[in-house]
Amino acid sequence: MRRLTPSREIEVARAGGAHVPPLLERVEALLVEVAAEHRGQLAQLAGETIAAGGKRLRPLLVILAAGGDTSESLVRAAAAVELIHSATLVHDDVLDAAPLRRGRPTIYASHGRAAATQTGDLIFARAFSLVAGNDDAEQLRILSDASSALARGELLQRADAWQTSITFERYLERCDLKTARLFQAAARLGARNGDGDGDALGGFGRSIGLAFQILDDVLDVSGPADRTGKHRGTDLLDGTVTLPFILARARDPELAGVDMRCIETAEQAELLCDRITATGALEQARATAHEYVEDARALLPESLSTQQRTALDMVAAGVVARFA
Ligand code: IPE
Ligand code: IPE
Ligand code: MG
Ligand code: MG
Repeated sequence: MRRLTPSREIEVARAGGAHVPPLLERVEALLVEVAAEHRGQLAQLAGETIAAGGKRLRPLLVILAAGGDTSESLVRAAAAVELIHSATLVHDDVLDAAPLRRGRPTIYASHGRAAATQTGDLIFARAFSLVAGNDDAEQLRILSDASSALARGELLQRADAWQTSITFERYLERCDLKTARLFQAAARLGARNGDGDGDALGGFGRSIGLAFQILDDVLDVSGPADRTGKHRGTDLLDGTVTLPFILARARDPELAGVDMRCIETAEQAELLCDRITATGALEQARATAHEYVEDARALLPESLSTQQRTALDMVAAGVVARFA
């Protein structure tokens, strides 16, 4: 399985306690089971998406937020969050016309829009049926709220496309909806299963989610593609204005005059990435992400065990340390 920073996730899992690595393995086994359930091309594409890996950061957050809980209900919730995340990525690659995901061609690129849309739908549906198995309407509500937020965030992003003058606040609202709310849901689901403080842990998740998306947007400019598994400049090519570009425009008057619609080739996008980098905007964006990580840390409840706090602290730090 492909992972971007394998040692970091393993380290965090160990710090969370002896129960965490086996829980992650149970989540993985459940994901494999879900992937193998159906026949036909759709199921095969869904299975390949799940098997392609990823950092499994959200299931880790579910498990860590649950303290010491090791129930089957927790495993189902963690797997469901990863499925929602995977489904969203399949749909996101259609919306962003993205060629590469997790180091492989996207389903959109290899099989087209219809196959990608249906594969994403199938994975979404499987997530909800997993959590339905927990017989807890609140868990379903948490998951469906996050899914609605994700869809709204993606719609907002399309509505904002090519608008170079969007504000930081608007950008942040998008990051919140499309990314941070699922991190919040992950932490809330963990807290619910483990009897923890859902509001505080959810707030923690939401803040690290914001930091995570800001870093992802930095990585879209900095790459390198062989480590991120995605091409540099994908955001610029599809008209998505992110924090690095917002900040770079303020620093370089020539960049402020760039019409994104003129960026048509991967080479042009890479050149623009280099110019954004030259302004120092990436450092500023990383610093902003760090601030959200600090906010997140301050939200961790007093009642956590040292072990749980250490592991969650490591997750928060890891979100902004990617390829630093
Ligand atoms: C990518 O998430 C989508 C964003 C919210 C930026 P990840 O970077 O966690 O994707 P995988 O699961 O590791 O591939
Ligand atoms: C995050 O935004 C996508 C979702 C939350 C669905 P991006 O569009 O930046 O994610 P990547 O870069 O394609 O992984
Ligand atoms: Mg994308
Ligand atoms: Mg991105």
